[in-house]
Amino acid sequence: MISPKEINNFHIKIVPCNEIPKIVDYLLKFYFTDEPLSKCLNLTKSPEAVKFLKEFCTEALKENVSVLATDKTGKIAGVSCNVILRKNIKHFNFNIDPKIEKIATFVLKTIDEAKVFEKYDDVNEALYIAFMSVHPGFRNQGLAKILLEQSRLLALSLGLKVMRMDCCSLYTAKAAQRFGWECLNEIKYVDYTIDGKQVFKPEEPHKELGIYGIRIENTSFNLKSSI
Ligand SMILES: CC(C)(COP(=O)(O)OP(=O)(O)OC[C@H]1O[C@@H](n2cnc3c(N)ncnc32)[C@H](O)[C@@H]1OP(=O)(O)O)[C@@H](O)C(=O)NCCC(=O)NCCS
Repeated sequence: MISPKEINNFHIKIVPCNEIPKIVDYLLKFYFTDEPLSKCLNLTKSPEAVKFLKEFCTEALKENVSVLATDKTGKIAGVSCNVILRKNIKHFNFNIDPKIEKIATFVLKTIDEAKVFEKYDDVNEALYIAFMSVHPGFRNQGLAKILLEQSRLLALSLGLKVMRMDCCSLYTAKAAQRFGWECLNEIKYVDYTIDGKQVFKPEEPHKELGIYGIRIENTSFNLKSSI
């Protein structure tokens, strides 16, 4: 586990159980309305999707491996909602809402082709950054990179050796690249079509979904040189 700390005026800690409902509301307001794939499908306009996402995020946060950043006033500045992935375990049935299914089909195809556990064939578990979100008022100040580094320290403390993040935003991809993550597979949105039609048309500058992985032993995400 990581202990609470102050970094660049942000208070950093593991998401406590009693704050889960608040974080779920935050994610619905600032992650699923802004994450490029959800945004271009207007995902949060679908009540079924919202119900599913609330349950999904609650279960993820209950794993006790997510990292929260708050500002001086205690306001949520960002959260890295993380889960532990286990080899050969398929998690959820996404056939719940057409928009969720559309996103899940695309993301799972990109993940399958990335062959993560074949690439890191000596591990059976990895820390997965499921939802990385920074509040609009704190973006582009290095907070996603702080949350990534704290997630890495948490993963190490749990004895994990590998992390994975699926980057549908150019900004998470940039953070991953900055820290030396490997892009294991990438599909450009213009190339993903069904019946000849492009399925996702996110806003610029987001052009592709990249599946990134990294071995975290002996790696340090050097924040000083990257913020
Ligand atoms: C994606 C997100 C988490 C990034 O958080 P952030 O704290 O702003 O990111 P950082 O400040 O740590 O920056 C990460 C990288 O993106 C770049 N970046 C971030 N915002 C940028 C912007 N508006 N314009 C240009 N570059 C930007 C940074 O320069 C940095 O790259 P660098 O290290 O090469 O300089 C945030 O934009 C967000 O919450 N978006 C909505 C939800 C989402 O899309 N999540 C990711 C889904 S995969």
